[in-house]
Amino acid sequence: MNDYQFNQLLSRLELSWEGYRRVRKGVKKRIRKHMQQLDCKTVSAYLAELGKNDKARRECDILMSVSISRFLRDRKFWQTLEKEILPDLIREKETLKVWSAGCACGEEVYSFKIIWNRLEKSGAFLPELKLVATDLNTIYLDRARAGVYHSSSLREVKKEDWSNYFNTNARGSRFSVKPVIKNNIVWKQLSLLADPPGLNFDIIFLRNNLFTYYQDHLKQPAFKKVLDALSPSGVLVIGSHEDLPFTTENLLPVDPHSFVFRKYL
Ligand SMILES: C[S@@+](CC[C@H](N)C(=O)[O-])C[C@H]1O[C@@H](n2cnc3c(N)ncnc32)[C@H](O)[C@@H]1O
Repeated sequence: MNDYQFNQLLSRLELSWEGYRRVRKGVKKRIRKHMQQLDCKTVSAYLAELGKNDKARRECDILMSVSISRFLRDRKFWQTLEKEILPDLIREKETLKVWSAGCACGEEVYSFKIIWNRLEKSGAFLPELKLVATDLNTIYLDRARAGVYHSSSLREVKKEDWSNYFNTNARGSRFSVKPVIKNNIVWKQLSLLADPPGLNFDIIFLRNNLFTYYQDHLKQPAFKKVLDALSPSGVLVIGSHEDLPFTTENLLPVDPHSFVFRKYL
């Protein structure tokens, strides 16, 4: 499959070339295998199949998903979350609602739990945490539930925290999250283009998915729903290299991060 043909596929799926450009090699490989399984000899035949076969189309959507992530990705942000954003958000709250939208294999969610645990250990009085993590891809969700990672996923975690939050196998090649961060997370298959899994979230993570991989006309309605699901003083976190698809007066950046926003009524 050449780039022209890959672009035809992206157009059909309403996905963005810019988002897929750097990861296209691996994605093309998965799609080529899918074409073989469906006995499609050409990309045109594959596109025609996707048009009439809903199951194939759903499989294709899943094969297009990219799971690149790591623990504490954008480490400075997580420090701000721990030291400034969360202490302010949890003040006088009985419950804190958090949604990780497009959670991949769980690295982002467990990062949040690490920060939460650190706050707990510091003696902060914490409200009840309601944490929901959603993704389109059930294979990623199964991996997230299992919570086992290669050391490369942990490279932003301080070495002294590895043993606090992970058990390792005898060879030291695999790290599984400890119950202290594994418990109390609701995992759910859900598309970002569908209705959110609830309302009044205090924090929504919408990082490195909708704004990176989708075409503009899909971003706007999906983002509107996400914004509606954010509580009046909630915090929205997008990817550090992403931009909002439109400016909203009631979202202001949280210093010093241009990709973290606080909602104001
Ligand atoms: C690159 S990962 C980002 C993971 C994490 N948010 C982060 O920033 O580290 C993108 C994730 O978004 C998910 N995704 C893509 N399109 C989706 C959709 N329409 N609905 C739900 N999840 C989607 C993919 O399955 C993948 O797990």
